[in-house]
Amino acid sequence: MIKKINTEQIKVGMHIHDLNCGWMGHSFLTNSFAVRDDKTIQKIWDTGVREVYIDTQKGADIQEGQPEADVSIHLNQQMREIAAQDKGDGHHVSLGEEIPRARRIHVEANRIVRGLMEDVRLGKQIELEKVEPMVGNMVDSVFRNPNALLPMALLKNHDTYTFEHSVSVCTLMVAFAREMELSRDVILQIAIGALLHDLGKAKISDEILNKPGKLTDEEFDAMKGHVAHCISLLADMPGITPLELEVAGQHHERFDGSGYPNRMTGEEISLYGQMAAIVDVYDAISSDRVYHKGLPPTVSLKKILEWSDHHFNHALVHRFIRSVGIYPSGTLVRLDSGRLGVVIQQQEKNILEPLVRVFYHSRQNHYIQPEIIDLSKSKDNVASCEDYEKWNIDPQQWLS
Ligand SMILES: [Fe+2]
Repeated sequence: MIKKINTEQIKVGMHIHDLNCGWMGHSFLTNSFAVRDDKTIQKIWDTGVREVYIDTQKGADIQEGQPEADVSIHLNQQMREIAAQDKGDGHHVSLGEEIPRARRIHVEANRIVRGLMEDVRLGKQIELEKVEPMVGNMVDSVFRNPNALLPMALLKNHDTYTFEHSVSVCTLMVAFAREMELSRDVILQIAIGALLHDLGKAKISDEILNKPGKLTDEEFDAMKGHVAHCISLLADMPGITPLELEVAGQHHERFDGSGYPNRMTGEEISLYGQMAAIVDVYDAISSDRVYHKGLPPTVSLKKILEWSDHHFNHALVHRFIRSVGIYPSGTLVRLDSGRLGVVIQQQEKNILEPLVRVFYHSRQNHYIQPEIIDLSKSKDNVASCEDYEKWNIDPQQWLS
């Protein structure tokens, strides 16, 4: 049986099935291994992980713990409760109208962030004036209709990940802030902080940044340094605000104190730092990287929800899920009818029943005439979330 246990309950002789730490760097070769000695247990504790999954058929068992199936039932129940909360007003502009604008904004944002990172590498001064109007455009687009810009966050290339991730985190942060009903002035500042949150990575060598394999402890420590680099880069920037610094400086802090660089806990971390942590991890685990396959958006949300027992602010994670939906726009879903399609728009009153553009039949294995299905008016329901690669479907074609 696969079972979740607390890390304090790990004993020699157990078999770790999953270290359950998607975003954390660690120097174990895989997430699955036998616990042969106390040194291994200490090493697991040192990573800051609070709960792991063990395989009781391959190693020792204990009385305590929760079967994986029960964890899954509990998470699904929580997702339904989040979906049942009441939601505010809808979108102001149709998707068809917003998509061409969002596409231009997305291209421009990526170009600007790439330029900023190059400037940092060359030791040039960063000009905030370049960033502010573009972030303003992103905020406006998300407020007109978030379903246009948000799915573009799912399109990333391996070699351009660092700045595409920055743009995605910025977009997600705006959607999150919209759900939190923050003022426009605050949203602009935290969006700028989100866009610049990984600027310090421009000071990290490409060998570490793009290493295809696991980082060693030393390399991981160097990587962690990107936060300190970012803080010192931003602190030198004329016009930077305290909120922008909070977002960038606290995005790796964790609610239980297991984060870095300052091991802050709970409310010591500002609201915006806590939001940035959730958004950063969500985008990281849902993206394909050189060394891991991205999880489908809904699966990523469930992971964040699970980790919020320790690492994130539980209530904020609920709000974040409300902001992107249970099946975020851009998710490939299979319907009960066997049709496959991409989620194109959230129904703000019922995020369990989004609009889906179907275009493929999973049982007949062929493309079908594309059609938009409103799940709130159809007998069809989402049966599962699917992986684009598994179906040999190019997400670029359906997301941009
Ligand atoms: Fe980071």
